[in-house]
Amino acid sequence: MLRHLISAADLTRDDAVLILDTAEEMARVADRPIKKLPTLRGRTIVNLFFEDSTRTRISFEAAEKRLSADVINFSAKGSSVSKGESLKDTAQTLEAMGVDAVVIRHGASGAPYRLANSGWIDAAVVNAGDGTHQHPTQALLDAFTMRRRLIGRDAGLGQDLSGKRITIVGDVLHSRVARSNVDLLHTLGAEVTLVAPPTLVPVGVDSWPCAISYDLDSALPKCDAVMMLRVQRERMNAAFFPTEREYSRRYGLDGDRMAKLPEHAIVMHPGPMVRGMEITAEVADSDRCTAVEQVANGVSIRMAVLYLLLGGNEPALTHARTNEEK
Ligand code: NCD
Repeated sequence: MLRHLISAADLTRDDAVLILDTAEEMARVADRPIKKLPTLRGRTIVNLFFEDSTRTRISFEAAEKRLSADVINFSAKGSSVSKGESLKDTAQTLEAMGVDAVVIRHGASGAPYRLANSGWIDAAVVNAGDGTHQHPTQALLDAFTMRRRLIGRDAGLGQDLSGKRITIVGDVLHSRVARSNVDLLHTLGAEVTLVAPPTLVPVGVDSWPCAISYDLDSALPKCDAVMMLRVQRERMNAAFFPTEREYSRRYGLDGDRMAKLPEHAIVMHPGPMVRGMEITAEVADSDRCTAVEQVANGVSIRMAVLYLLLGGNEPALTHARTNEEK
């Protein structure tokens, strides 16, 4: 039975396709005069954000409200208690209030897993980004955007992304978005190529189900979608490249480079974009860039995930692996 969504790697192909199809149904609610479903009426969801967020936090809140849940926003930033203790204390407080689901973003990789498997709470846990580890709802909304754009809204129903070629470019080392996308895209049958400077490629990447390249120009003509990643300065404790100018010259996407993409290919970015660094304003504002569309799709995906975790009677997702099973 479905309990938590901690990692994109926990989803089977059928789980993922069910979430994408359910999100298409949820997207139709946005076209109605009253954009609300009674599905989660009387259920309480807490958004527990230990790290900064704009899109993800607003998107989860919008999704929860459209499903009629009671929403509590908790911003844990600035707490002086050490991470482990504060997480446990906070969890016990939430449990005492009887929450049904916790959406958590945390700077420590593994925090959502700990919350889900510690026995501190009984609620469903949804990972909204943990350290450099995972961001499963981002990968789902990215896959949803690709399926719509590359296959079609109706034609895509029931389909995965078999044979689609996706290139992910930039700071892979610090990116939970990249990790979640590699896992999910592989599960959905897509071929993934990572392009990054050698210093921003994680150790152990050889075991990931993707190809690695250091040359953006040769990767672009062969892909259906290119996903640009932000250089995550806040997670860097050393110099990973000589200068910003040098980085942009080799790994940034500008108009000339975009012209090398096949005609149908899209440009994606999870946001926040650093214009002039990994992407130029010309590309960010072009019709081929789906950054804003990805945000809108995020609400539908999060509605689908919360509905399937809390509302659906059928076991829609695989049970996230527990300590005992590992
Ligand atoms: C990403 C994140 O926080 O992991 N953003 C997001 O959720 N849309 C990527 C980033 O911060 O660069």
